Amino acid sequence: MPLIGIMIGLLLTQQTVRNEAANNAVVRASAIRNQLDQLLILVDDADSGERGYLLTGQTRFLAPYDNAVQQLPALNKRLENYIGGDSHLRGQIDQLKKDENRKLQRLAEILALAKSGQHDAAVARVKTGQGLEAMTLFRQLTAGIQIDEITELRTQMALRTESLQRTDLFIAALGASLVLFVIFSIIAMLVNLRERERIIAQKSLAEGESIALTGQLKNEKARLLALVGELNRAKQSADDANRAKSEFLASMSHELRTPLNAILGFSEVIKEELFGPVGLAKYVDYAQDVHNSGQHLLDLINDILDLSKIDAGKVELREEEISVAGLIADSASLVRERAQKSGVGLEILPAAELPPLTADKRLLKQILLNLLSNAIKFTPAGGRVTVNAALDRQGGLRITVADTGIGMSPSDIAKAMSPYGQIDSRISRKHQGTGLGLPISRSLAHMHGGELEVESKRGKGTRITLVLPPQRCVMRADALAG
Ligand SMILES: Nc1ncnc2c1ncn2[C@@H]1O[C@H](COP(=O)(O)OP(=O)(O)O)[C@@H](O)[C@H]1O
Ligand SMILES: [Mg+2]
Repeated sequence: MPLIGIMIGLLLTQQTVRNEAANNAVVRASAIRNQLDQLLILVDDADSGERGYLLTGQTRFLAPYDNAVQQLPALNKRLENYIGGDSHLRGQIDQLKKDENRKLQRLAEILALAKSGQHDAAVARVKTGQGLEAMTLFRQLTAGIQIDEITELRTQMALRTESLQRTDLFIAALGASLVLFVIFSIIAMLVNLRERERIIAQKSLAEGESIALTGQLKNEKARLLALVGELNRAKQSADDANRAKSEFLASMSHELRTPLNAILGFSEVIKEELFGPVGLAKYVDYAQDVHNSGQHLLDLINDILDLSKIDAGKVELREEEISVAGLIADSASLVRERAQKSGVGLEILPAAELPPLTADKRLLKQILLNLLSNAIKFTPAGGRVTVNAALDRQGGLRITVADTGIGMSPSDIAKAMSPYGQIDSRISRKHQGTGLGLPISRSLAHMHGGELEVESKRGKGTRITLVLPPQRCVMRADALAG
């Protein structure tokens, strides 16, 4: 829209220049006409003044002649000024001047004759009609120029009218575009205003919503904080209860062990008949049963004590550098006899050179012993138990005890990993156990920053792996160099 305005403005300027040119042409044409009229009158005056003088001989009739002779040079000069660059007009005016001069020359000659007393000769020259003829020619010439000028005047007038019309048109167009521009501007402003109002309305709506939401969130936060407080209190009391339970179990286990030692010791003495024969074989059998039950009770008490100690955080790691191969060999030697009796093969796969471990030897042995005794316990005769050790990709150690025994279902595994959880199967029931071995082993693995991984399939066998983190594997300088 502003571009249209600028264009129209430019055209308007151009039009103004054109109008001015047309105006100038009109002024010049009418001025020329005017001068020519005067010229003709003056020459006419000179002519008729002289004729009056010739007729009357009175000099007062010469006044118009004198006046014409006096004024004509100035008039000629003014006419000259209007010619400008117009070559056609220049030719016409030059001719006019020549004729005018000739006419004036003639008049001067006749007047000179008359004034010198040769009145007849002067009249005779007038009578030749040459003066009249010259005057007629002069008139025709003037009329010709005037006609040309009128034509020029008409053309210029037409041009000016056209130019003025065009100017009017442009002004109208400019006005119209200005009005359009103003209308568009107002519409744009209105639209803008609407949009702003809409945004403000939306904003205040969103603000209202966010205030409501903030309130809601605050309430929610307060509720959650209250809940956290409650949970903390509950956890605190649970922790307290757990500690009390562990302490009770520890002291009770300790108290139970003293009488148990007497039971075990004396039943042993009786069943071995150390102080002489008991007599009836049945009593020896009973003494054996009492000893077995006492041993089981002692195992149970020891396990409970272990677990409650671990739970109470009372077990401390006594770390030392231990050889993996040595650890496995030691643990295996303790169960080898049991395996042989059960008809289960026990195999330690040759492990590649492994770095020594930094760990609590007694506790790791406890884990391995439990895994090995479980494997032998839950593998029927003819089966096989294998121990393997290797470094994993991250540099951690994996010791796996695998068997070809009865295996476990996924739900069995979950049960086996929870304290006192024993799976109720025929073989399980045949074996004595506390159901605490696996949970204790897992807790001990955790204490070393490790984990116990259980894979098992019912009827196929079980693989339990003790995973220890890379930090537990000591990298010796010579091992690294090799
Ligand atoms: N190698 C295994 N094969 C099959 N079942 C197993 C094996 N190891 C453990 N279990 C199951 O998990 C239960 C829990 O084992 P554990 O915690 O060592 O207690 P316990 O040996 O005193 O029964 C066992 O009673 C047995 O049902
Ligand atoms: Mg066990």
